[in-house]
Amino acid sequence: MYRTQTCGELRIKNVGQTVTLSGWVQKSRDLGGMTFIDLRDRYGITQLAFNEVDNAALTAQARKLGREFVIQITGEVIERASKNKNIPTGEIEIKVTEINLLNASKTPPFTIEDETDGGDELRMQYRYLDLRRNPVLQKLQLRNKVALETRKYLDTQGFMDVETPFLIKSTPEGARDFVVPSRMHEGQFYALPQSPQTFKQLLMVSGIDRYYQITKCFRDEDLRADRQPEFTQIDCEMSFVEQEDVLQMFEGMIKHLFKTVRGVDFEGDFPRMTYAQAMEKYGSDKPDIRFGMEFVDLKQVTSNKGFAIFDSAEAVIGINAEDCSEYTRKQLDALTDWVKRPQIGAKGLVYIKYNTDGTLKSSVDKFYSQEDLAEWAKLANAKPGDLLLVLSGDLDKVRKQMNELRLHMGNELGLRNPNVFKPLWVLDFPLLEWDEDAQRFFAMHHPFTSPKTEDFHLISTDPGKIRANAYDLAMNGVELGGGSIRIHDRELQAQMFDLLGFTPKDAQNQFGFLMNAFEYGAPPHGGLAFGLDRLVATMGGSDSIRDYIAFPKNNAGRDVMIDAPSPLNAVQLKELGIAVKS
Ligand code: AMO
Repeated sequence: MYRTQTCGELRIKNVGQTVTLSGWVQKSRDLGGMTFIDLRDRYGITQLAFNEVDNAALTAQARKLGREFVIQITGEVIERASKNKNIPTGEIEIKVTEINLLNASKTPPFTIEDETDGGDELRMQYRYLDLRRNPVLQKLQLRNKVALETRKYLDTQGFMDVETPFLIKSTPEGARDFVVPSRMHEGQFYALPQSPQTFKQLLMVSGIDRYYQITKCFRDEDLRADRQPEFTQIDCEMSFVEQEDVLQMFEGMIKHLFKTVRGVDFEGDFPRMTYAQAMEKYGSDKPDIRFGMEFVDLKQVTSNKGFAIFDSAEAVIGINAEDCSEYTRKQLDALTDWVKRPQIGAKGLVYIKYNTDGTLKSSVDKFYSQEDLAEWAKLANAKPGDLLLVLSGDLDKVRKQMNELRLHMGNELGLRNPNVFKPLWVLDFPLLEWDEDAQRFFAMHHPFTSPKTEDFHLISTDPGKIRANAYDLAMNGVELGGGSIRIHDRELQAQMFDLLGFTPKDAQNQFGFLMNAFEYGAPPHGGLAFGLDRLVATMGGSDSIRDYIAFPKNNAGRDVMIDAPSPLNAVQLKELGIAVKS
């Protein structure tokens, strides 16, 4: 037997027992006649004690053990002379009588402790060692708990876990597909699913009624802190539901998860906002509502006073940074440089300081009187001591830029507390999105989303204005999940493909399987999917999902540990009938 207990288990009540433990040598300390070793496993750390006077040979053996050696020891649990209140096993130690070296270890490339000296790339390369560290392990434990509680909740609600295939058909909509060449069908390719969307809809046609799956999805898109090329969805679908049924069900799930995993209770219903309101107030479809600083439309009050930049701008938008009137010239210049960076792309930044003495000082004093500025301040609900920040330009661009500036100010002013959770349903997304480059509409969510019946008459006149039965759950500025009520009628689905520029032949070719299924009694249905990685990262108080994935890809989409992607050898390529152009 390798062990009688784990390294996190022994307490004062075990004193006097003879135990066997196995684990890793975290570190050892030599204090003259005494040698101490911290023995670690997933469950904790237990201190091992060796007394040179009692057993010189054993102590000599202990001194030779390096960091991360795997050992098995036997000994007696004794009360510690100097107790460590910081760890649960801190009142006891083991007076070791026998050491069995199970495996030696090379010196690890970085220290395997809570605070490590290893850089990101090095820790990614030796991810299996990084996972031995507590802060990383705890993130995986959190993920495990969230997945487990998700299953429990969905199971009690009658959802059935059904697996769907990974080798599917490539489709042109959405992000880019990862493709897999077929050996048996030379020149043909599978694609890895961007989500199980069409399969879950087919499962509704099959009568499964309530489906879920915690599954990998694959998208070949540019990476960011909250995006990985392979990520995990909690994917769900329900039959005979309207939007309200779906929102209730999954609000219930999020409440259950926060309660059981984080001990957080949300009071009342989650707030809701339309997409149009979210864009107007926050310039984002996933607003962080942990803080205010809502957009104020200043176009009217800033026009026709001789300031050409505001006069010619489609939009002039301000935000009120409370208690910031003391910002120095240097701080304001830094903010201006920040909005002018290519990633943000603003041409400049106008500020108005509402001084504590009641006077107003702006960067555009040449054009505007104190009364003008007072009117802006009033619109923005500013009080003495506040600072107004104003951007102008094309509406869509200014909204995007102001969203970035608002979040930046939120960070600077410490208004984005990671331990405060503010969910928000965003409803009534537009059905379509116009793409200037392609000169055509794309589905904003996906082509299976049903339009709102009351807007459908716009299909021939102003399709861009049609709203969809689509919804997202945002939290703390992160899109945690999204979904829609689906089209379940073949005719309507065909019309939708037509709108998206598919010829009937293309539509049949790409999605014929789904449209055919709709001819065999498809029930009304709808659903949504949460990004598990984002959900867990948000619950853990982080914006980076990478830390919550056991083996993530780096920013360039590489797995530096296994060195993927990598070239195929000539034999494999030949079998697949593929020639690589160099
Ligand atoms: P959507 O594309 O909005 O919807 O994806 C659902 C959720 O998945 C997460 N997500 C990601 N997480 C990490 N890395 C990525 N690259 C990534 N892309 C998406 C987000 C997002 O909200 N089939 C539909 C759902 C439905 O309609 O039921 C879908 O995939 O948290």
